[in-house]
Amino acid sequence: MGLVSAKDMLQKARKEGYAVGQFNINNLEWTKAILLTAQECNSPVILGVSEGAGKYMCGFKTVASMVSAMIDDLGITVPVALHLDHGTFEGSYKCIEAGFSSIMFDGSHYAIDENVAKTKELVAVCEQKGISLEAEVGGIGGEEDGVVSAGECADPAECKMISELGVTMLAAGIGNIHGKYPANWAGLSFDTLSAIAEAVGSDMPLVLHGGTGIPEDQVKKAISMGVSKVNVNTECQLVFAEATRKYIEEGKDLQGKGFDPRKLLAPGTEAIKAIVKEKMEMFGSVNKA
Ligand code: 13P
Repeated sequence: MGLVSAKDMLQKARKEGYAVGQFNINNLEWTKAILLTAQECNSPVILGVSEGAGKYMCGFKTVASMVSAMIDDLGITVPVALHLDHGTFEGSYKCIEAGFSSIMFDGSHYAIDENVAKTKELVAVCEQKGISLEAEVGGIGGEEDGVVSAGECADPAECKMISELGVTMLAAGIGNIHGKYPANWAGLSFDTLSAIAEAVGSDMPLVLHGGTGIPEDQVKKAISMGVSKVNVNTECQLVFAEATRKYIEEGKDLQGKGFDPRKLLAPGTEAIKAIVKEKMEMFGSVNKA
């Protein structure tokens, strides 16, 4: 059916109390692994593309063409949204132009008035084109494509302001960070999440970034409190690297045609499939397509 906006899948998730996974893609193998797993799990899925990953894959047009063609060639029938992750204002327009079905404009590093103004402009553009839009309030800790933030908790009043602009979903910092969590991490701030959920109302899907390494009980609790989208990136990279390293350390690339990229990249691809399946089960999106 081609790419779809993330709006319907997230509103359904918000109502029914589960979350849709956003898995970031880096290349063809990543994309194929995630799409096949979503189909196998009969789960909706969001493919995340950061501006850096878009550049790496030659540009947003290449990405949009690859994903659309792959949905067709693989016979994928579950809902798939192609989503810009942590977009700049300019990057958002580029992805809209390139055929993405969902955009995240991350204005969290601007003063709230500027975040509001820019988000508002994009709401109008996205609405007209049937594209879903994610906004962000309060920085997600760690590094997001060069922007470093300490992982502050978002202000519920600011969340309310942004959510009233007509965005599809809202990412709000609740102590979550990108990448691996440090040993002394305090955990998610459920008090903040509760205040935000209350401020934005029960129809607004909330987004939990930094899905890698959050303990399962905290993920599930966050979902029960209004999180309808969980982003996972680093974890797929870690399992891919680990499986690939094992293959090479066992000398398998030196046996027969083990150096063939279709063989060399297979264990990593299978590892991504396994982790995506595990996450879809954890988030409750299996059989929700
Ligand atoms: P992780 O890399 O920590 O899983 O975070 C992913 C993310 O939030 C992408 O926006």
